[in-house]
Amino acid sequence: MKGTVYLGEDCLDARLPALTKGQANFVLTDENVFALYPDFFKKYFSGAEIFVMNAGEEYKNFTSLQAILEKMVGAGLKRTSRLFAVGGGVVGDMGGLCASLYMRGISCVQIPTTLLSQVDSSVGGKTAIDVCGVKNVVGAFYQPQEVLIDPNFLKTLPPREWKCGLGEIVKYAALDGDFFETMYQNKENLSSPQLALSLVYDSVALKAGVVMRDEKETGERKCLNVGHTTGHAIELAFGLSHGESVLWGMKLETKIAMATGVCEKEYGQKLLAIVEAALALPPVGKIDLVKIGEAAQNASADKKNVDSKNIVMAVAKAKGEWTILSLVADDYKTALERAARKE
Ligand code: GLY
Repeated sequence: MKGTVYLGEDCLDARLPALTKGQANFVLTDENVFALYPDFFKKYFSGAEIFVMNAGEEYKNFTSLQAILEKMVGAGLKRTSRLFAVGGGVVGDMGGLCASLYMRGISCVQIPTTLLSQVDSSVGGKTAIDVCGVKNVVGAFYQPQEVLIDPNFLKTLPPREWKCGLGEIVKYAALDGDFFETMYQNKENLSSPQLALSLVYDSVALKAGVVMRDEKETGERKCLNVGHTTGHAIELAFGLSHGESVLWGMKLETKIAMATGVCEKEYGQKLLAIVEAALALPPVGKIDLVKIGEAAQNASADKKNVDSKNIVMAVAKAKGEWTILSLVADDYKTALERAARKE
């Protein structure tokens, strides 16, 4: 990983004047962020070309990609130009991908505005769009030059978005013993903005360390997919947000890992208590557990699978330890249904 992450209330003032100076700039954002922060765009991006996309995962597609790239060509951007992605995970993923494609790659700066994008998607260089109902199936690893994380953006975050961010934060509890203890001790307090701010710092540090050791996900980086195989399957089947789906994915995959003897029971129960505490935060996204088998088939298209027969999951094993669990597709479906029945 080559980029630098700046985190703090003063990082925009500290970095943006230098980053926007001396070349043509292109800003990608969405309608929600653009409406919420007119002064921010006026202050830092008065001379830039600004593309405001529709908000929502359903717009992370070829149509948006084409529209943005055409706008970049129309703006006459050069190889020296810089793209700024200001928004949540969708804007970050799309912005990174457009920067990687334009003239075979221009500089990209990520300015994440949601809890989820601040703790996960803006760091690490994964960029992608969804195609034919498969999440993130077309994309590239493309590291941002800088990531600027200003916690002030979180002040306008709706409760549901907060919960989405917790989905990725809880994931880190499955990877690091100290992080796990902090989350377990504070599980009744997960909606506290003060706690979240310290968790943002720890999450970013943890993630950056993993990505620096394994940028292209040939080994260790797979740990960042804990809960994600089933999470993505649920997201597609039930249209729940990414973070909430990851929480459900962590819950069901931890139960599967416990049932198959892969995850220590006592530790697994404690991890489940953290996941449950996050899931209980309102507003609760509902999934129809009776129909969970329908979600299982979505897992067959998951990028982590190495063949068409087995479903591959990164699961929690013991405090600070994770492992890969691979199940034949039919066994995965049965295990998922059983885990859901034990609700
Ligand atoms: N969100 C998982 C990763 O960046 O690897």
